[in-house]
Amino acid sequence: MSMITFKSAAELEAMRQSGRIAAAVLGELEPLIRPGIRTRDLDLYAEKRTRELGAVPAFKGYRGYPASVCISVNEEIIHGIPSGRILQEGDIVSLDFGVLYEGFYSDSALTAPVGRISDEARALIAAAERSFGKGLEQMKEGNRLSDVSAAIQASVESEGFSVIRQFVGHGIGRALHEEPQVPNYGAPGRGPKIRTGMTLAIEPMIAAGGYEVEVLEDGWTAITRDRRLSAHYEHTVAMTENGPEILSARPPGAGTGTRPAKEGPHA
Ligand code: MF3
Ligand code: CO
Repeated sequence: MSMITFKSAAELEAMRQSGRIAAAVLGELEPLIRPGIRTRDLDLYAEKRTRELGAVPAFKGYRGYPASVCISVNEEIIHGIPSGRILQEGDIVSLDFGVLYEGFYSDSALTAPVGRISDEARALIAAAERSFGKGLEQMKEGNRLSDVSAAIQASVESEGFSVIRQFVGHGIGRALHEEPQVPNYGAPGRGPKIRTGMTLAIEPMIAAGGYEVEVLEDGWTAITRDRRLSAHYEHTVAMTENGPEILSARPPGAGTGTRPAKEGPHA
C-alpha cells in the first residue's frame, strides 16, 4: 500500500523550483491562445521552453501519452491530444501541463478564451478558478482533505455548474500521481488531516451541463456526454506552517485564465 509522502523543507524547495518552471511555461503559452493557432504549435512551444529551462515535460510518455501538454477544447474535459486542430474564435481551451525538475513533479492547468466567447463560457471558466480558491481556503491545520473537496463542489454547484466525478486531483512529488486522491466533490470532514508537508495537485474539472464522461477513440480525450462545455483549473499546492502555498503560481503579468477577451484583429 502506498502512503502520503510529507515533504521536508529541502524537498519543498525543490518542488518550488519545479512549480516555477511549469508556471513560467504555462504563463508563456496563455497569450499565444488566439484564433488560428494549432494546438500542436502550443505543445511544441511548451516542450522547447521546458527543455530550455532544464526540465522535462511530465506528461510525455506517461502511460504512453504522446505530448507535453494536454489541450482540451470546449466539451473536452481533460487529456485532449495536441493536433492540427486550429483554435477558433469562441472556443475555450484548457491547457494542462507539468514538468519534472530535479526529481520533483509539478502540475498545473488553466482554461482560457479564444477571442470573444459566450457569457456561459466565461462564467464557467471563472467558476473553475473560483472553486479552486474556495478549496484552497480549506487548507488549514485541523481540517481534513474532504473539506477541500466539499468546498469546491459547493462553489461550483452554487453557480449552477457540475463537478466531474470520474477524475480527481492527487498528491504529487517524486511521482506525478501520489496519494491521496483529491476529489472535487464529497461530504466534508473526512479523509486524512491536512498537515504541513503535504503537496497536492488540486484540480477542479467542471461542466456546464451534466458530469457524465465519455472517452474518445484515441483512448485519452475525455468529453462531456452531453457535449456541453467543460473547464479545468489546477495548481500544485503545498501545505506549510504559514498555510497553503501555490507552487505553480504564475509570475505577475502572466495571464490568469480569466483575462477579458481581446478585441480587434489577431496576428
Ligand atoms: N494533470 C493531469 C493529471 O493530473 C495530467 C495527466 S497526465 C497524462 O493527471 F500524461 F496522463 F496525460
Ligand atoms: Co493533475
